[in-house]
Amino acid sequence: MRIKITLLCSLVASLGLVNFSMAAEGASAVAATPAPAQMTGQELAFDKNKGNCLSCHVINDPKATSPGNLGPSLEGVKDRYPDRAKLRAQIWDATVINPKTAMPPMGRNKILTEQEIDLVVDYLLKL
Ligand code: HEC
Repeated sequence: MRIKITLLCSLVASLGLVNFSMAAEGASAVAATPAPAQMTGQELAFDKNKGNCLSCHVINDPKATSPGNLGPSLEGVKDRYPDRAKLRAQIWDATVINPKTAMPPMGRNKILTEQEIDLVVDYLLKL
């Protein structure tokens, strides 16, 4: 009899554990945000928690609504930067070119990852 009760208890306990871990998995799946690698250059440029470029720059994209104007318009950015590396450097750390700039150093301050900066550069060069 005692053995049966012990078995029953451990069975209930293990079932409880299984249920608990399943519930925890479900909760984390709901809270998960898209991994940075899954965002496009456009999303990274618009997202307020990422590049937030649109809050300071007009961007020549029909989906870029309500831009800010703290920075210059990025219209024609492709023509101003025939050298991709210079455009990337401006985004990676704008303070190298202008130490007093209001533009956040996206790479140096790790606001965007190296890969995210590449995606934003690709996006700008396709506009
Ligand atoms: C807080 C405002 C702000 C944010 C956010 C911002 N910038 Fe800027 N940006 C500026 C300002 C101001 C300048 C003007 C140059 C300077 O200050 O030296 C500038 C300059 C630039 C330039 C050079 C000007 C040109 O077009 O020839 C590029 C390119 C640029 N920004 C791209 C970006 C990108 C891409 C992002 C997002 C990843 C971004 N900026 C986010 C403020 C901002």
